Amino acid sequence: MHSPNSRVSASVASDNNEVEQPGQPKTGFLQRRSFLRGAGAAGLAISAGALMSPAALAEESSGSLPDGDASILRFLAAAELIEADLWQQYAELGGLQTNEPPMITGLTGGNLAYTLALSNLDGDMATYIHDNTEDEFSHAAFINAYLASKGADTVNLDHFRNLPSSQATGAQQIGRLTNLMELTIDTSWWTRYRSRAKNPDFGDTFPNAIAVLGTGRHTAIPRNDSEAQLDASSPNGVTDVTQYIANAAGFHFATIEQGGTSLYAQLAQRVTSVEVLRILLSIGGTEIAHFQTWHDKAGNCPALKGVVDPVSGKTVDFPDISSFAGNEDLQSNLIMPEPTVFLKKSFPACSIIRPTATQGAAAGAVKALTDDGLFRGQSSGFFRLLNDLAEDADEARRGL
Ligand SMILES: [Fe+2]
Ligand SMILES: [Fe+2]
Repeated sequence: MHSPNSRVSASVASDNNEVEQPGQPKTGFLQRRSFLRGAGAAGLAISAGALMSPAALAEESSGSLPDGDASILRFLAAAELIEADLWQQYAELGGLQTNEPPMITGLTGGNLAYTLALSNLDGDMATYIHDNTEDEFSHAAFINAYLASKGADTVNLDHFRNLPSSQATGAQQIGRLTNLMELTIDTSWWTRYRSRAKNPDFGDTFPNAIAVLGTGRHTAIPRNDSEAQLDASSPNGVTDVTQYIANAAGFHFATIEQGGTSLYAQLAQRVTSVEVLRILLSIGGTEIAHFQTWHDKAGNCPALKGVVDPVSGKTVDFPDISSFAGNEDLQSNLIMPEPTVFLKKSFPACSIIRPTATQGAAAGAVKALTDDGLFRGQSSGFFRLLNDLAEDADEARRGL
């Protein structure tokens, strides 16, 4: 255990000019509030121990919002900051290279070979990547601004932007929150949304559509220029390694956005304010739009034979998705949610988002992202904060 004075090794100034004096006993409540509000402030040095301490579990300020609503919005703000960080990396390398401040910045010309490989999934991929990125920045900024407008504490993850960038042409050399270079990509959403008899809310599980991405570690962005190469002799116009990386990205896009699709539907059931419900339904709807788009594009990934996975060094195949035709659990154009069991098995099958059960939803989202390897290399303090925010969101109960 840490003594109270060992938790924070420097004065902490939050963005409303609250200053904790050195030597003054600090409560976990104040530490945590200051951390959330001003983690990017100069002079902050918070140890992992501070975030591991039970005292740090104290509630943040909800302002005029119901406590549960503020907790849900803070968790979603964190989720959106994480989404924005990963989409920024995709946008720098594979998106349309048009800066649109304040949402879209840091684009320096992109990566030609990676962008070409992505275009083999759809000629508009660069535009879709750019727009998805802009949407995530808008979500994070809006939720934090809404929290602040109600006098509630906001979320800032800048302290944890320490993971490395890709060295490939197009990537900025800045610290990142997320790691796209060691992913284990869950593609079971593909089979889950095609099932006519199963639903994860009944405890059902679903196989990966692309087994090769669901085991081991894979990069979804070129880590350096050797992994992003044009090849005029290939039908794809790029090396197989570059196409393999773009295919991994094509599936990861949908893996991320189906998660957001469920998360908003799950947490909406716990909010009290009708206005907060409106926020969750309105932002959640764009996560669905993203998922639907990426679901369609993933089905266009070119087949690859005998490609050397650059992370594992193993020789692997990327399956021929056109061969899935005729199998309704896999066929690529069945991108609309298949009607399935919902609420009670005695009800008629219904075309729905799935899962939508609300219990433990935020913690489940953190686990899914962690299991996919998105946070490989992150600090214990990062996980502590994220789990704490998730726990608070999952404790929210709809009031009357
Ligand atoms: Fe979002
Ligand atoms: Fe999203």
